[in-house]
Amino acid sequence: MSNDYPYAARYPVNRTLPERGRARDDIVAELAAIAAEEDAMWESGKCSGTMYCGDHDHYRFLTEVFGNYAHVNALQRDMCPSATRFEGEIIAMALDLFHAGATGGDPVGMVTSGGTGSIAHAMLAYREQGAARGIDRPNVVKPETAHPAFDKACHLFGIELRRAPVDPVTTQVDVDWVADHVDGDTVAVVGSACNYGYGTIDPIAELGSLALERGTGLHVDGCLGGFILPFGEELGYGIPTFDFRVPGVTSLSADTHKYGYALKGTSTLLFRDRELRNGQYFTLAGWSGGKYASPGIDGSRSVGLLAATWASMVHLGREGYRRYAGQIFETAQRMQQAVRTHRELRIIGTPSFLFSFTSDEFDIYLVNDVMRERGWRFNGQQYPNALHMAVTRPQTQPGVVEAFAADLAAAVAHAKEHPDDQPRSGAIYGGVAGGLTDEADDFITMVMAQMLDTQQGLPPA
Ligand SMILES: Cc1ncc(COP(=O)(O)O)c(C=O)c1O
Repeated sequence: MSNDYPYAARYPVNRTLPERGRARDDIVAELAAIAAEEDAMWESGKCSGTMYCGDHDHYRFLTEVFGNYAHVNALQRDMCPSATRFEGEIIAMALDLFHAGATGGDPVGMVTSGGTGSIAHAMLAYREQGAARGIDRPNVVKPETAHPAFDKACHLFGIELRRAPVDPVTTQVDVDWVADHVDGDTVAVVGSACNYGYGTIDPIAELGSLALERGTGLHVDGCLGGFILPFGEELGYGIPTFDFRVPGVTSLSADTHKYGYALKGTSTLLFRDRELRNGQYFTLAGWSGGKYASPGIDGSRSVGLLAATWASMVHLGREGYRRYAGQIFETAQRMQQAVRTHRELRIIGTPSFLFSFTSDEFDIYLVNDVMRERGWRFNGQQYPNALHMAVTRPQTQPGVVEAFAADLAAAVAHAKEHPDDQPRSGAIYGGVAGGLTDEADDFITMVMAQMLDTQQGLPPA
């Protein structure tokens, strides 16, 4: 299959808008066939993260709800009061989940397009709050392990980003370093609950004390863990408190399109106080097209995504989320146990539903090469080379943990026999490069080139 033009061998490639349209049935049949083939990769349960629910009945239900509102614009609230109902209730339910009510403040929130969207809006809010206080060269301090969305947001909004080192054993941020690098221009510090790479939680209580003491904001990135860790806590998995119960936490992001089991394209961003959120609103009163206001960076948004997110939350309820969390936490523990049976492998830090492992004896990508051949798709890391597995519902199917244990044993045996081989795979965000003989850097260059070509509409003829 060509990477540049997948499916060119099976279906005609549209290089121009076709003069005559195709029949709906034909299009639906073609895409249903392709989607079913592509879904097979994660349905096996061998794919880390990304398919958080994996239940086609749930997806069909959400898609039906989405269909009722897919064509409606969330900016036109007079035409669709439902948008206000959905968004308001999503935010209210999320604020309650993260105990914002107990703060005694005036907690508010917004629904954004995803984790990156929530982080970007948060950084913009802190920049604007800082500007209102006279800070014109703002900085933010994040743990090195915090998601690149912070780097992207700071780049876009002209904020200096200070990357704090983490303890190599616990992978938690070095709070002393953060304290030394917070100054009068720091508009926020960041902690993850949990981080993408290791699934570990930063010392949020310590960061909260620091933030209060130094008069700066504290954003908790719960994009990944937000909708599962509270239920892990309820089930007794020893999750440290990371939400608004911690004094000093001023905002928190939690993605509904991850462990909220909603459709892709939504996240929640919550603020302890209204004033912080309102600072990033954009209004233009004097425009000839009319007075303009939008609650975030986006203009038009589909009410369909708000409806589907709301539906996922009210359908599952706390009981449903708790049940899924229980299954995922238990599966994650069993998978970690399988890793621990190999003295050559080492689990990094103290993770929960997402764990990362490496080896001090051979390159872990040798293990990955064999696991890939057996259908596994982990997320690849570097410094040190490591593989991470974000356990989701597809892994909770019967037989998946057993297959993981058996395949891992074979992969470790291979790595021990061939420790000097050059691995064929390498670290790349969202997956691991593989099936290629090239170096990982070449792979990244190729992927980037493909993405850019695709976005410019100039794939090779
Ligand atoms: C901890 C964390 N924060 C932020 C993000 C960014 O989320 P998104 O890909 O939805 O923009 C991710 C994505 O995996 C994440 O794991």
